[in-house]
Amino acid sequence: MDRRKFLATTLTAGTAASITSTAVAAQEDKTIRIVGVSCSPRKGKTTATAIQVALDAAKAVDPRIKTELIDLGGLQIAGSLGGATSAEAKQPEDDFELEVLPVLKTPRVPDGMIIGSTSYFRSMSALCKAFIERLQIFREPKLQLADMPLGALATGAYRNGGQELIIQEIQTAMLVHEVMVVGGKPRAHQGATLWNAYKDDIMKDEFGIETAKQLGVRVAEAALRFAVQAS
Ligand SMILES: Cc1cc2nc3c(=O)[nH]c(=O)nc-3n(C[C@H](O)[C@H](O)[C@H](O)COP(=O)(O)O)c2cc1C
Repeated sequence: MDRRKFLATTLTAGTAASITSTAVAAQEDKTIRIVGVSCSPRKGKTTATAIQVALDAAKAVDPRIKTELIDLGGLQIAGSLGGATSAEAKQPEDDFELEVLPVLKTPRVPDGMIIGSTSYFRSMSALCKAFIERLQIFREPKLQLADMPLGALATGAYRNGGQELIIQEIQTAMLVHEVMVVGGKPRAHQGATLWNAYKDDIMKDEFGIETAKQLGVRVAEAALRFAVQAS
């Protein structure tokens, strides 16, 4: 059963809480997999920390939710070499195939995803763009990420350093997969925006950390709502 059918057949309108419990009841033995991807070249720094905060908040929504962090820091991922398909692009094997793809696909594509990028000159990092371009493989032979709830997060050294623009860039790019773009709960309606004003101690950005949590909760709620029923 696909996500759309699952929604049509198992869910009724109501409060978020009742929707969530309905979905959970319908999926008794099914884990819901939410993957966070940190797209900073710096492993384990502010973006990765913020993504982990979002994932922890997502996990707390329901015991069935399992979370995984993919930290792209230190990995070598080239952007697409072009071509209508990955095969046409003749992409040399790099850390995307070796390190990232196995996690993304195993045991199945995620039920929800949070992508976070640093602000680099008011734009997503080159690593983030490369990662998103390489997700082309999930459009072949058919859209595999369709209807997956997708939330976005951005970190920057300035209070208004381009975070909202970057969130929009990530959301727009991911729409080619027909993902379900979601923001966060109140005060994080577009997504999570973090300000690295304390020498990489992002936990000190209380407002930003709260937006990361609210993003995680919203992605979790949406993933519960749209999760594929175990076959
Ligand atoms: C090349 C470069 C460009 C940057 N441009 C911006 C920018 O336009 N706006 C901003 O707020 N921060 C900018 N920053 C700062 C980073 O976005 C910020 O320190 C972020 O928290 C780094 O994430 P990380 O700790 O996960 O690596 C830039 C940093 C670098 C290295």
